[in-house]
Formats: sequence, structure tokens, C-alpha cells
Amino acid sequence: MRIVPEDPPVTYDDVVTMDKIVSLCKRRGFVFPSSEIYGGLGSSYDYGHYGVLLKNNIRTQWWRAMLQERDDIVALDSAIIQHPETWRASGHLAGFTDPLVDCRTCKLRFRADHIDQSACGRKPSKHPGETPECDLTEARDFNLMFQTTVGPVQEEGSTVYLRPETAQGIFLNFKNYLQFSRKRPPFGIAQIGKSFRNEITTGNFIFRMREFEQMEMEFFVPPDDAAKWHQHWLAERMKWWTELGLRPDHLRLRPHEADELSHYSSATSDVEYLFPIGWSELEGIANRGDFDLTQHAKFSGQKLEYVDTATGDRYVPHVIEPAAGVDRALLAFIVDAYDEDEIEGERRTVLRLHPILSPVKVAVLPLVRKDGQPELATEVYRDLRERVQAEYDEGGAIGRRYRRQDEIGTPWAVTIDHQSLEDRTVTVRDRDSLSQVRVAIEDLGEEIELRLRQPWRTPKLGNG
Ligand code: GAP
Repeated sequence: MRIVPEDPPVTYDDVVTMDKIVSLCKRRGFVFPSSEIYGGLGSSYDYGHYGVLLKNNIRTQWWRAMLQERDDIVALDSAIIQHPETWRASGHLAGFTDPLVDCRTCKLRFRADHIDQSACGRKPSKHPGETPECDLTEARDFNLMFQTTVGPVQEEGSTVYLRPETAQGIFLNFKNYLQFSRKRPPFGIAQIGKSFRNEITTGNFIFRMREFEQMEMEFFVPPDDAAKWHQHWLAERMKWWTELGLRPDHLRLRPHEADELSHYSSATSDVEYLFPIGWSELEGIANRGDFDLTQHAKFSGQKLEYVDTATGDRYVPHVIEPAAGVDRALLAFIVDAYDEDEIEGERRTVLRLHPILSPVKVAVLPLVRKDGQPELATEVYRDLRERVQAEYDEGGAIGRRYRRQDEIGTPWAVTIDHQSLEDRTVTVRDRDSLSQVRVAIEDLGEEIELRLRQPWRTPKLGNG
């Protein structure tokens, strides 16, 4: 496991840039700027067909690791709008703020702690405050929660907030889970869902958005075991990212400095990925102590504690929280998978995604659109799509159809040719090795499913 600061720095020598990723995502229907026909809306994005499929696969793998591969975690899907007291108790109303400065000259607003990364509105080569015309206000705190009102009239007491994290819904349900799930600490509650933050520093594509999706799990443990479970989850989560293909030398764990810790945390480490914008947070893994349950007990007047019926012992569990972003995960997987190479003198772009994450697992392509090939290819396609996400494509030169599938990361392309009609075999082309093997049509479904179950290692790591 890589841990900073002992590790040597990794230099960014990839062919990938953020511009190439943005362009591929739009061209191939992964991600579009939101409201584009109206000129777009800052830091909002829409996911296209392949983006939806890829996101689904990421969520499925997270649920699999949380629910299917263990028996100490249960699932939840809580409301986005919760009782407003939630945010008073959690500390978000008072403390979920960024310090902002306004420029009275160019009318732009900047995060006070990001001035050295921001561009002056009139002279983008300078930072705000560096030109004689700049006229900055003092820093003021700005709450990042979006407000709205419930009910038909706007009156006192009707203000509510769009949740800025999914975690609080889990704490509000802690008591329900103790009663119905028959779990006792150590156990976890996991949730995937949208969160909202009125972020000021935006840009960098889907890395930081105002509406985004989180995968969070709150793991409730006896207080004395918290440090041990924190270590457990650091290791588990690093394993998850690497097994899904992220290169280990592009991943690291960075413990927070004392002055970086959130108000609720006694220890947090970020899983960071080496994005084209530099090392940045993919996931935070925090030891939240008993902060949240204690606060909600205080504000709600309810007892939020575990009572051991055998011994009579009672305690407020401590919480270990792995909290990842679905959108950042998608960005990291695409960035890590992006590659360019040359086939027979022609440049190709290819997404070397772990096959389990690939939006489409197999493409079925008749070599020509005649001689019975489309009919046989359709039969093969109908059979495969019963098992996996498959795609049929008969339009255009075969080389161009391969390129299209390479760009969306499809690991295998099945080609139907004249021989297929004679002996009911097809060729299976591998996206990465480009090898082509002949397989009997009757074995094809099983062959693809077998390949999907194989452990996978990105070819970007070479043979070493
Ligand atoms: N409950 C703890 C929590 O919310 P966080 O570090 O603020 O912690 C967890 O968020 C993860 O959510 C981050 O590691 C990141 O992947 C994702 N995330 C946070 N803010 C985001 C934003 N504005 N846009 C996209 N993803 C974001």
C-alpha cells in the first residue's frame, strides 16, 4: 500500500490530458455538459448512454464489495431532503462553509484559500489582488448547502436543505437498523445517492460538481476497536480500487494533517489518484468517533446507543466511514484506462477498462452486410445479450467499427465472416492484445462469461 510522504513522487508521463478525456466523453456519449443548448450550467453534467452503463457497473462493484462479499453491512436509501435539525446537529449549518472574497472591480468571487490558483477576472495571467485595479473584500464565510422550502408558502420553519453528504441519513436511521437488522457492532450501513454542494471552486470537468453522487458506508464499532477498524477499511478500500484496475503507482493514501481534519474527525486518510490535474482525493476514510450519534441524540432527545442485552453494557458506537464519489471514480477509471497506440500505421484511442467495468462487454459485427452474415450475427447477438451487455453493429468498414468499440472500452468484438456460415464459428478479437481466436458459436456465451470472471491486470503496467 502506498503511503505518503515516504513514497517517491510519481511523474505524470501519461498520454492522457483532461482535454482528451472531456472530448472523448462527449464524442462517445459518456458525459455531456448539462443544459448545453442554453449555454451550459457551471459544474453540472449529464451522463450519456455509456456513462450510465459505466456508472452502473461502478455502483454494482461497490455494492458487491459492501453487501455480497461480507455479511456485516446492510443497505439504505434515505431521503435527500431531511429534517432541517439534521444539519444543525451535524454541524453543517454552522461549519460547512468556505471563506470567500469578492472583487468589487470584476465582480467575481473567489475562495480565499484558493487565491493562488485563481485567475484575476481582468488579467487572467495574474492572481486576484495582484493588479492595482483589483479591489477585494475581506473573506466571509459562505455556506455550501443549497436551501429550498417545503410546502406551498415560504414561511418561517419551511427552510430545508439538499443533503451535502449521504452519511447523515444513515445516522438518522441507526435506531431502526438496530431494531430490524439484528446486527450488533461491528456492523455497517451503506448507501449510494446524490449529494449537493454549492461549490465555488469549480472546473476540472466532473471532478468537482454541484450535484454529484456518493458511495458512503458508516461502520459502527465498539469505541476501543475504532483505530483497528480504521486500518481495516484503509486496506479494504485500496484493494477495491486496485482490483478494479487502477494502477497502484497512481494511487496513494494520504493521512490528513491536524489542521485539515473535518470538525467530526479524529483521523482521516484520503485515497488519492494521480489525475491529470495532479494528486487529488478520490475517497475519504474517516474515523468519525461518536460525534454524529451523540449530536443527533442531543438534538432529537432519542437514545442512540447500543445495549448488549446479555451483559447490560451500553455504549455509543464509534464510526469508521469510507466515503467515495461515483463521478470521481468514473473519471479516475477513464483516465487510468485511456491509451493511444498504433495499428497498421493508424492511430487509435482505446479505453483499457477492467472488463467488469466496461459499458459494453461484447460487440457483434458481421464482416459484410450481405451473404447471410447479418442474420447469423443477429442470432449470435440475441443469444449474447441474454448474458451480458452486448451491442450489434453492421454499419461501415470493420476497422472503423473496431475503433468505435475500442474507444468505449469494449473488451471483446465477435466477428461473423463467410467461414461462420460454413462451420458456425466466429472470431473473438481482444481489445488489448488484438489477438483473434476462433470460437464455436455454441460455446461463445460461456467463453465470454469465463473471460469476465478472470482476474485482470491493466496492460499499461507491462509484463513486469
Ligand atoms: N461524509 C463524508 C464526506 O462527504 P467528502 O470527502 O466531503 O466526505 C466524499 O466527500 C467523497 O465525495 C469525495 O472523496 C469525493 O469523491 C466525493 N465528492 C465530494 N465533493 C464532491 C464534488 N463537489 N463533486 C464530485 N465529487 C465530490
